[in-house]
Amino acid sequence: MTTQNSTIIAFDQVVKRYEDDEEPVLKSVSFEIERGKFYTLLGPSGCGKTTILRLIAGFAEPTSGTITLDGKVINQVPPNERQVNTVFQDYALFPHLNVFENVAFGLRIKKMKKAEIERKVQEALRFVNLSGYEGRAITEMSGGQRQRVAIARAIVNEPQVLLLDEPLSALDLKLRTEMQYVLREMQQRLGITFIFVTHDQEEALAMSDWIFVMNKGVIEQSGTPNDIYDEPINRFVADFIGESNIVPAVMIEDYLVEFNGRRFECVDAGLRPNEAVEIVIRPEDLEITTVAQGKLRVRVDTQLFRGVHYEISCYDESGHEWLVHSTKKAEVGGEIGLYFDPEAIHVMRFGETEEEFDRRLEAYSEGDGHEG
Ligand SMILES: Nc1ncnc2c1ncn2[C@@H]1O[C@H](COP(=O)(O)OP(=O)(O)OP(=O)(O)O)[C@@H](O)[C@H]1O
Ligand SMILES: [Mg+2]
Repeated sequence: MTTQNSTIIAFDQVVKRYEDDEEPVLKSVSFEIERGKFYTLLGPSGCGKTTILRLIAGFAEPTSGTITLDGKVINQVPPNERQVNTVFQDYALFPHLNVFENVAFGLRIKKMKKAEIERKVQEALRFVNLSGYEGRAITEMSGGQRQRVAIARAIVNEPQVLLLDEPLSALDLKLRTEMQYVLREMQQRLGITFIFVTHDQEEALAMSDWIFVMNKGVIEQSGTPNDIYDEPINRFVADFIGESNIVPAVMIEDYLVEFNGRRFECVDAGLRPNEAVEIVIRPEDLEITTVAQGKLRVRVDTQLFRGVHYEISCYDESGHEWLVHSTKKAEVGGEIGLYFDPEAIHVMRFGETEEEFDRRLEAYSEGDGHEG
């Protein structure tokens, strides 16, 4: 009997530098990828998402650090010897070959028997719902259909890991949303590991089991979509992941934070007493009340109906803007109160990654004699 380790890919302090004298494109990136889950690399253009996929696929070599696949170091293993396949942004299909031959291409190179190729290609096409399209020219397929051919071509090789580099970005919004469901469902049926790249935070939140939020060659935060949305670790993540109210604050002590000149109960602990922090409150966590019932007193500046909720912009006495999403209407120009639960306040540290924060917390509790 064999027990499979759940980790399939691991990066250990991987640095990637394209030019000797320049800033590395990846600055000591470490993470682990488990078998059979849907992972997303999320971050702005140029942060290093494609570089990570290229390193996993073997199209680039790390400058330092180690990459393991299935427990073996693969830094120097050529792409064709890795059980990894990539779906590229532009699909990279062969325009002169029909659907069947596009999917069969890799199998023909492997000199697989004809009957076997036929069976595998049919199976892959059935999987992406394209049975019957075998003889179609690629040029006669829609964007969404081409995308599915590209996926069929990747899964026909039965990879352990499928890398998808912004595969939906060429599609219009409706098709894109549809394909999000299709991909997610496909991943669950196949049970293989997907590593999906996007710079669209809604897409990442909707599809993933686990998200890595990247910025300038580092992973700022990793976690489930809920972790990332509800507990952003810093301003970058809070900002990137959705609309939010970010305010400078002081952590008075555990569970007590001060901003807007007042102290509020919160659920965070473990920071230094009187440490300067920032807090984030999501617009949907603010509730409109009377001035007397509110924790904040604000004046309503603008109000837009967004179909499900009103998007209301208000200003407090110090001139700070507060964005509110509410199903209740407010009166433009009027004064209202804003109420929020202690759980709605998320305390963030200044420009620190998760790793840096954990290290500091450790040093802090050691230095302070907090043991155990
Ligand atoms: N072959 C290369 N030679 C030199 N620099 C490169 C090379 N490939 C990428 N870079 C640089 O590395 C950085 C990260 O690029 P990468 O393609 O990984 O970003 P990305 O997150 O995928 O961005 P996008 O969302 O725009 O696709 C960029 O600054 C890019 O200019
Ligand atoms: Mg890219």
